[in-house]
Amino acid sequence: MLGIMRFILLIIATVGSLRLLFGCGAETSDESLRLRVIWERDPQHESTVSWLTPASVPSSKIYYDTASHAAIDDYQWQMEPESQAIAESRLFSQRALPMQHHARLLNLQPGTTYYFRVARTKGPSEEFSFRTAPEGNRVTLLFGGDSRSDRSMRRKMNELVARLMQADNEIAGLVHGGDYVADGKNWAEWSEWLTDQEELVRDGSRLLPIIPTRGNHETDKELFNQIWNRPGEGKDYFAQRYGKAGLLILNTEESLSGDQFQWMESQLQGLKDAHWIIANYHKPAYPVVKMPSAARGIWVPLFEKYLVDLVFESDGHAFKRTTPIFQEAKDELRGIIYAGEGGMGVKQRTPQTSLWYIADGGIALKAHHVLKLRIDEQNAVLETFGEDMQILDSYTLRPKLALRQQTEVKP
Ligand SMILES: [Fe+2]
Repeated sequence: MLGIMRFILLIIATVGSLRLLFGCGAETSDESLRLRVIWERDPQHESTVSWLTPASVPSSKIYYDTASHAAIDDYQWQMEPESQAIAESRLFSQRALPMQHHARLLNLQPGTTYYFRVARTKGPSEEFSFRTAPEGNRVTLLFGGDSRSDRSMRRKMNELVARLMQADNEIAGLVHGGDYVADGKNWAEWSEWLTDQEELVRDGSRLLPIIPTRGNHETDKELFNQIWNRPGEGKDYFAQRYGKAGLLILNTEESLSGDQFQWMESQLQGLKDAHWIIANYHKPAYPVVKMPSAARGIWVPLFEKYLVDLVFESDGHAFKRTTPIFQEAKDELRGIIYAGEGGMGVKQRTPQTSLWYIADGGIALKAHHVLKLRIDEQNAVLETFGEDMQILDSYTLRPKLALRQQTEVKP
């Protein structure tokens, strides 16, 4: 009898260990929504609100309005989201993964606060809000990447984002440069990441919209696309306009040439009259830690042909802001600034400060960081904040619009 009891206890302990080992059991009977607001192509008029419900609650609904309400029936609009069970591609996937809901809200007004609640098993959620991108040419965005493997620093950096939002009401959205989690195939890691950002990257009930970029740790493309609602129709590259400024979100995890290259060139042709042209992607062309990515040979000539102003990069785990670079030399007139390179919750590395594009007018530091870019018709100011909200770097960009308009570009 004692032997049988020992055997049963051994089985229970083994199953428990395997569940811990493979990340099972982390899901999902709780009612945490893991809310996100996602911006893709037209942040002035569209936003996607995304949330989770337990696997046992397959349907949900969003109620929203430009005014705050105490009762769910008072909201002007409601919408059934697109819903799908989260699916991992990895071996030993959890069995009862939560339901993912995406409500793509269209025909929104620029610079407007939208209040919302979602309906779920325990009744309506508390009220949350988000704000669409402002009308006109003035906008402020945060940029930061690499939040994958130092959870306490990730939470600290999320708190920093919340503090920056409180200090600067014009902050409109956060561009995340990729490598959210260490194992992009593991839902349990994504679940933690979403919990951390929902709790901290907001000012009170206001959620900061996220503009997603794919990193090399997002190895499960389908899971990435489920979480971020298939940006760029699942290609993970897309373009945004903020008034007369253009922002290109690119994908270094698929071919840099071919379709993506041709799409990028057509976008850049359409931005000749843009006040500012900004690009963002994960693996750096001008790194301070690793070797240059393929972007150096494939994308940089295109950036230079169309006189891009500013490029954000991630992946290296250090902060850098280069000197203005054009045709592999410093050029104050035509040069492009490359900034990043990932410090939102991952151990930081020591950068190479002797590189010519750092030593001659740039900066590189081993420091967690988030960058804030404020642009209007004439000015673009890039400030970098360290983990204690100290300013690590401040740089004013020289506009290139006139130069761009004078330059004849041969396709
Ligand atoms: Fe990376």
